[in-house]
Amino acid sequence: GNYAGPLRPQVHFSPPQGFMNDPNGMFRDSEGTYHLYYQYNPTANVAGNQHWGHATSEDLYTWTNQEIAIFPGGPTEGIFSGSAVIDVNNTSGFFPNQTNGVVAIYTLNTPQKQVQDIAYSYDNGFTFIKYENNPVIDSNTTQFRDPKVFWYSGTERWIMIVAYPVDFEIGVFSSSNLIDWTAESNFSHHGLLGLQYECPNLVEMPVNGTDETMWLLWISINPGAPLGGSITEYFPGTFNGTHFVAIDSRTTLSDFAKDNYAGQFFDNIPGSQNQISIAWASNWQYTNVVPTDRENFRSVMSVPRTNYLTNLDRVGLSLISYPHNISSIIDSELAYNSSLGNNTIFIDYSTVESSALYFEANITGLADSTSLTGTLNFTFSSSATGESVSGGTFINTGDIWLDRSKTLGFQNPFFTDKFSATGLYDGNGAWRISGVIDRSIIEVFLNGGELSGTSVFFPTQPLDQMTLGARGINGNASVSVGVWALRAAW
Ligand code: FRU
Repeated sequence: GNYAGPLRPQVHFSPPQGFMNDPNGMFRDSEGTYHLYYQYNPTANVAGNQHWGHATSEDLYTWTNQEIAIFPGGPTEGIFSGSAVIDVNNTSGFFPNQTNGVVAIYTLNTPQKQVQDIAYSYDNGFTFIKYENNPVIDSNTTQFRDPKVFWYSGTERWIMIVAYPVDFEIGVFSSSNLIDWTAESNFSHHGLLGLQYECPNLVEMPVNGTDETMWLLWISINPGAPLGGSITEYFPGTFNGTHFVAIDSRTTLSDFAKDNYAGQFFDNIPGSQNQISIAWASNWQYTNVVPTDRENFRSVMSVPRTNYLTNLDRVGLSLISYPHNISSIIDSELAYNSSLGNNTIFIDYSTVESSALYFEANITGLADSTSLTGTLNFTFSSSATGESVSGGTFINTGDIWLDRSKTLGFQNPFFTDKFSATGLYDGNGAWRISGVIDRSIIEVFLNGGELSGTSVFFPTQPLDQMTLGARGINGNASVSVGVWALRAAW
């Protein structure tokens, strides 16, 4: 693949060439290497002809493209989304001589139906052998897909959650061997339904400030997201090995913009630890027509995210999601000011080879609600054309916004160009916006990940200068800003 193009992200994964959608089969192997598989059409820059592409990484930013891991068996087959696990105890019987056998569980799509198939790997997930007696689950329907499997130690069984998309149902199955599956329960008709449910995840994660863990059910909906097309919603709750129960009737979107879909959590990370996820940074409404095909690829993944749950004042249990270990890819500091006040910094970053930056603006010392005033805001622009991407946060209302309207490289009626959401001040005296910008994608975060917005954008000329600053801040509060260049991963 040629990763040099002006729209090619440098700290985000994108396929060597061709079309990519959902992340699949993500797991951390027995040696600590991360594996990312993905829905992949290697033969065209539009969706179709689905294979499982494959890449590996030690740090989740620097990826090595690997050979395609799973191929369709013929022209009418698609290897659709799914997951992968390490069968340490050889429950499947595929691995008599090893403790690091990998089993992939995915949907086989054919014109007749969608069924759940498995394939096994002796070599840490680089090559797979399809199971001789597939499918392992056949519900005789064309709408049954995206199995996500994990080991549940409470019952010592494998659990699969899988979507019946047009029934708005998430099926929970269990198995002792990854081959024979028992239907346990259905979680149905919760939250925003969209027109279909896709790519469910169920994952245990810590609750910040407690010794407890809780479960998160994560459902992608498409089409029919509130802003159009594709988006993901989540429900915190409990899981007992057969049933998931949401703690309340709230529905929360995982992202306030339009390019964060089909996210998946890595397998083999203990539930007591923060979980790691990656999402597809696109939207089915326009993914097949975005202009990156002139660089011979379409679609990128989000940055890896660290995730945990926390109790937010007045909201309740919420997911916090922010860039995973971003400090590991920081190359150099471009600017840092610990007492900016009501000012703005300007940076020309045309000499930063990656064009990828991490930035933060923090306000501290907010004494009481009367000091909640002002804005933190940023603009990234092209010195050649004046095109820009901008955003910020109003501290008094808690609003965060993102605006990609002033980039001119893509016209499409569904390419909504302004996004906003509202965060709630929790009285801790601080407010913060941060983000990663990378050639044709920006991800912004409020208060370390209480809200996040993922947005692709397509300027006709590279963005190469920026401003970051504060306005209208109360005199007792203090503003710090920083901007760092990120190391190109390719
Ligand atoms: C979600 C999805 C999945 C399906 C895959 C096919 O984006 O529609 O439901 O398995 O893409 O590529």
